[in-house]
Amino acid sequence: MPTTGSTAGSVVVLVSGHGSNLQALIDAATHPAYGVRIAAVGADRGDIQGLSRARRAGVPTFVCRVADFATRAQWDAALTSQVAAYRPDLVVLAGFMRLAGDAFLAQFGGRTVNTHPALSPSFPGIQGPREALDYGVKVTGCTLFVVDAGVDTGPIVAQRAVSVHDDDTVEILHERIKTQERQMLVDYVGRMVRNGFSVTERKVTIS
Ligand code: GRF
Repeated sequence: MPTTGSTAGSVVVLVSGHGSNLQALIDAATHPAYGVRIAAVGADRGDIQGLSRARRAGVPTFVCRVADFATRAQWDAALTSQVAAYRPDLVVLAGFMRLAGDAFLAQFGGRTVNTHPALSPSFPGIQGPREALDYGVKVTGCTLFVVDAGVDTGPIVAQRAVSVHDDDTVEILHERIKTQERQMLVDYVGRMVRNGFSVTERKVTIS
């Protein structure tokens, strides 16, 4: 999958907040054997820790705010061209709190992954850990999937199970999930970029 002439495949990571998943990718990418170069980090808001992490690592950043555009479609088109400028092999949404729109999916559909802190198809949306806790499940987890037009509905690349403890709070449970999520993300983004992958209907196969 790496672009001809380069030794590492290139990735653009999109974030909206803390960026601990991004940090795990940045750390992994410092090892040449990982085979992934983080070409840029983009965000839908400024002044977030995710952008600071990128800058500290010397990774180019850009911000594309919904509020700066008259319509959601214009924002989506602008985000798409900002990502495209870095010619990524794979786009990684790592805590990016926006849905990909039509323009984005037309260009990057099938080569964009997202990570979700629940075991899909359970608890889609932004409250995965809270809804798992409220429902009373004993096992939840995280899911890496290929982005489609739905909310956390795309073909599943990988999942990790995480136990729910009786005394968990949402924050404690989410942190336990995120520990697994970071490892899953690093592991599978590396494999997808180094080896390539295919999506047939809902089945994702890494070469
Ligand atoms: C992750 O659990 C991600 O799945 C969810 O938000 C969290 C982001 O964490 N959408 P971080 O910003 O990578 O620390």
